[in-house]
Amino acid sequence: MLTFSLNSGLVRLGALAVLLFQLAGTSEARHLPANPQWTKLAAKRAQNAPAKRAADATTFPLYNFTQPLDHFVDTGFTFQQRYWLSDRHYKPGGPVIVFEAGEGPGDERIPILDTGILNILANATNGLAIVLEHRYYGASVPVQNFTTDSLRWLNNEQAAADSANFIDNVTFPGIPGDLTAPGTPWIYYGGSYGGARAAHMRVLYPDLVFGAIASSGVVHATLDDWRYFDIIRQSAPAACMTQVERTIDEVDRLITSPKAETRHAIKSVFGLQNVTYDPDFASLLSNPLGAWQENNWDPAVGSTSFARFCAALGTPDNATVHTVQGITISNATFNYATYINRTISRECQPPQNQDECFGTITAPDQYKATDLSQTWRLWDFQVCTQWGFFMTPPPDPSTPRIISKLITQDYASLICKLAYDPGEHFQVPPEPDVEAVNKLGGYNIAYDRLAIIDGQEMLGTVAVHHYDENGLADPSQEPPQIQAIHQQEIEFVKAWLKDFKAPSKP
Ligand SMILES: *[C@@H]1O[C@H](CO)[C@@H](O)[C@H](O)[C@H]1NC(C)=O
Ligand SMILES: *[C@@H]1O[C@H](CO)[C@@H](O)[C@H](O)[C@H]1NC(C)=O
Ligand SMILES: *[C@@H]1O[C@H](CO)[C@@H](O)[C@H](O)[C@H]1NC(C)=O
Ligand SMILES: *[C@@H]1O[C@H](CO)[C@@H](O)[C@H](O)[C@H]1NC(C)=O
Ligand SMILES: *[C@@H]1O[C@H](CO)[C@@H](O)[C@H](O)[C@H]1NC(C)=O
Ligand SMILES: *[C@@H]1O[C@H](CO)[C@@H](O)[C@H](O)[C@H]1NC(C)=O
Ligand SMILES: *[C@@H]1O[C@H](CO)[C@@H](O)[C@H](O)[C@H]1NC(C)=O
Ligand SMILES: *[C@@H]1O[C@H](CO)[C@@H](O)[C@H](O)[C@H]1NC(C)=O
Repeated sequence: MLTFSLNSGLVRLGALAVLLFQLAGTSEARHLPANPQWTKLAAKRAQNAPAKRAADATTFPLYNFTQPLDHFVDTGFTFQQRYWLSDRHYKPGGPVIVFEAGEGPGDERIPILDTGILNILANATNGLAIVLEHRYYGASVPVQNFTTDSLRWLNNEQAAADSANFIDNVTFPGIPGDLTAPGTPWIYYGGSYGGARAAHMRVLYPDLVFGAIASSGVVHATLDDWRYFDIIRQSAPAACMTQVERTIDEVDRLITSPKAETRHAIKSVFGLQNVTYDPDFASLLSNPLGAWQENNWDPAVGSTSFARFCAALGTPDNATVHTVQGITISNATFNYATYINRTISRECQPPQNQDECFGTITAPDQYKATDLSQTWRLWDFQVCTQWGFFMTPPPDPSTPRIISKLITQDYASLICKLAYDPGEHFQVPPEPDVEAVNKLGGYNIAYDRLAIIDGQEMLGTVAVHHYDENGLADPSQEPPQIQAIHQQEIEFVKAWLKDFKAPSKP
């Protein structure tokens, strides 16, 4: 359900889903929640995945903008920040609409220029549309490697300063006139982390950013993010969640049994008997749940893997299964184990052993490579330094849960210790400095002409996470709710622009 209120330019939906993250389309490597084990699994899968839709360089030219490595201390170093531009709908006097590409390569966002929210808003306002790549992601990389020291310029403050510098100083090749702010109204759009960035840009640089749209913006950073899975528990199909709850409860009981045979047996049912460290085993079971945020109304963008997972779990029954391992378990757990066997356990084949495939503290060397191909280091560095979002079960043990109680905050944040050896110039702090995010408003962030949208996870098949971001070439084919939110965005952005007055020249 899309409930929506429009008053004085501030649009607000419930804050519930601000804790969800973004996963772009088919790329599983993108921004899974912080989890020491999933990060590497996803990176491996991404390597084997087919190439994504390539940027259409002829339709949308790619340009560079020169940024200083450090906005606050003069290092003498600069780097090239990439952006893509669409002047398809541009008419002089129109706004600039910028899409924050966030924590991934900017070229993956080109479809948003073509048929997504950028195209929609630019069409409605005669705007110039831009996808702006985030420092360190894609090819906007200012450093030679991703060691802890080299990552020290990857933070919210530097990223915000990049965008401000861009808005204040860019000249667009082939587009006449000065389109910098405040002479031209800039509308800043982002989803998930990018949504938080959009909100922050409006708050930090109100003279440069005329209006901002934060779609499912994760504006509140937190260490112990137990709500992430709890939102899924409350929103995903109930029968499926019953099966997951039942399994997790049963597995938690068996894996903490005083009897070594029982602990070994339950791992063995899942085909994971050689995963030495029990939290690693327990954490693998929640891996399929990460697919929830890949749901999308547009089959070209979304993934069906969550639905396949639920189908495999079957419907709740009271049957039990006596396993070849000699323990009797619920049919739910049996079905779950069959699914994990097929999709995860079997991915690990000799000569690799299960600790090498799935272990964390038992295989710490896997986190040591720091060359530029180790792009998983980027978002996790941001998580470990400023954002947190360590996904844990609910603190109250009587609350139903869909992930194991073995996933403590210490476990979920292991990657911060394993992957980022202290550098000479920088060390990852013992805990992320979430205050760096939350001091900008957190849940209460608000500003004139700042729209907070898609904040509520929506039931059914229509919306999970920044669902307004993409669109179809033929908008009449979009689900009615998506058409409706696009229409509302058009309306409020147009209303904002009516208030725009170019400041008089000094
Ligand atoms: C942008 O900068 C990169 C890195 O310096 C360079 O390789 C690339 O050719 C530049 N692209 C354009 C379009 O200028
Ligand atoms: C632009 O908007 C008009 C309605 O104002 C619509 O008829 C047209 O199809 C849109 N074009 C694109 C490319 O979205
Ligand atoms: C990383 O790059 C810096 C310079 O950019 C260099 O001094 C350092 O030796 C490199 N470290 C590794 C491990 O490659
Ligand atoms: C724009 O460029 C000027 C000149 O380099 C610089 O002083 C200014 O700080 C830049 N604007 C922003 C917002 O960074
Ligand atoms: C999973 O696979 C392992 C190894 O092949 C097997 O021992 C176990 O019984 C299987 N579990 C289920 C539920 O099929
Ligand atoms: C588990 O380890 C044992 C002993 O090293 C080995 O024989 C067996 O093949 C391993 N099983 C799996 C599924 O890795
Ligand atoms: C166990 O669940 C599966 C999948 O839903 C179902 O096909 C099977 O009949 C169930 N077993 C029993 C004994 O009910
Ligand atoms: C399972 O057992 C409970 C309690 O005995 C009962 O209420 C429920 O209807 C049963 N469910 C099914 C699917 O048989």
